Amino acid sequence: EMSAEERAFQEKIDAEIKIEAKNWMPEAYRRTLIRQISQHAHSEIVGMLPEGNWVTRAPTFKRKLQLMAKIQDEAGHGLYLYSAMETLGADRDDEIERLHRGEVKYSSIFNYPTLNWADMGTIGWLVDGAAIVNQVALQRTSYGPYSRAMIRICKEESFHQRQGYEILLTMMREGTDEQKAMVQDSINRFWWPSLMMFGPHDSDSPHTGQSMAWKIKRHTNDELRQRFIDQTIPQLEFLGCTVPDPDLKWNEARGHYDFGEIQWEEFYQVLKGNGPCNRERLRTRKNALDEGAWVREAAMVYAKKQQQKQQQ
Ligand code: ACO
Repeated sequence: EMSAEERAFQEKIDAEIKIEAKNWMPEAYRRTLIRQISQHAHSEIVGMLPEGNWVTRAPTFKRKLQLMAKIQDEAGHGLYLYSAMETLGADRDDEIERLHRGEVKYSSIFNYPTLNWADMGTIGWLVDGAAIVNQVALQRTSYGPYSRAMIRICKEESFHQRQGYEILLTMMREGTDEQKAMVQDSINRFWWPSLMMFGPHDSDSPHTGQSMAWKIKRHTNDELRQRFIDQTIPQLEFLGCTVPDPDLKWNEARGHYDFGEIQWEEFYQVLKGNGPCNRERLRTRKNALDEGAWVREAAMVYAKKQQQKQQQ
């Protein structure tokens, strides 16, 4: 039996009226959002690391500038998202501590290594491409601050996707055989993990039902995964590459691509902290926080001194 408050809340959701920070909301709605938005923010921040690995080895000055700009955008996305999360009463430092203790999740994709320059193209094209499909849907999420953050983030993500694709296109059109092989190798490694970004099958997704009813999610995991595959395969063909899936095939009757089964055991191992780079990623984040402690401390002391000066 719903309370009057809960009924009024659900009516607002059904009428597509956004929920704002000061509005009444069920505690479980608040908790779900804090979980999803913090996970999303952590993903943006941890997601800087695989690309950071290539800043010093970018092939040209322009590529280096592009890559740095993109990585800085990801930092910005993390900051908008932590701010959106704080409007729900969560504390940023607490959530970051929980991340560093390994208690909360961030996107599985960022636990894979970046082994060659083509990976910078593939991450922009496939990984940010998958992120966009998910985030375009989230622009219509029911919580106002999250929805508005997504609108801004999506504009920047589309730039990331294009710069990634352009890296690959250049390698495929102007590159040596070795460089072309690098592109295919990179796609082979990132294809399946990109599909895993959308989460488990709907039938195995504990949160989808309630999150759809609250319109936190506007499409299910499987719907978005299919949309991503359908829009990506023509781009793959234009590149002249393939994906490592013998079952991938256009299905005329469905009007969609059929595809093979994802290795869910690998997905759950990565979620448990056992992916190729999980430990390294968390260690790097923790070190960055520890090594920056003196800067934060100095800034606080300086701010206090300035304040005292003004009071004199
Ligand atoms: N990586 C890590 N964890 C995942 C992933 C993934 N790819 N997919 C699902 N999970 C987790 C969920 O967070 C949930 O964990 P929890 O119960 O411990 O909190 C669990 O697996 C079960 O999954 P679902 O029931 O499907 O969870 P949910 O309804 O939250 O859907 C989804 C998962 C689609 C990722 C959703 O949270 C979402 O849309 N998040 C916002 C987008 C986002 O985080 N993007 C980050 C990557 S893109 C980027 O940053 C560039």
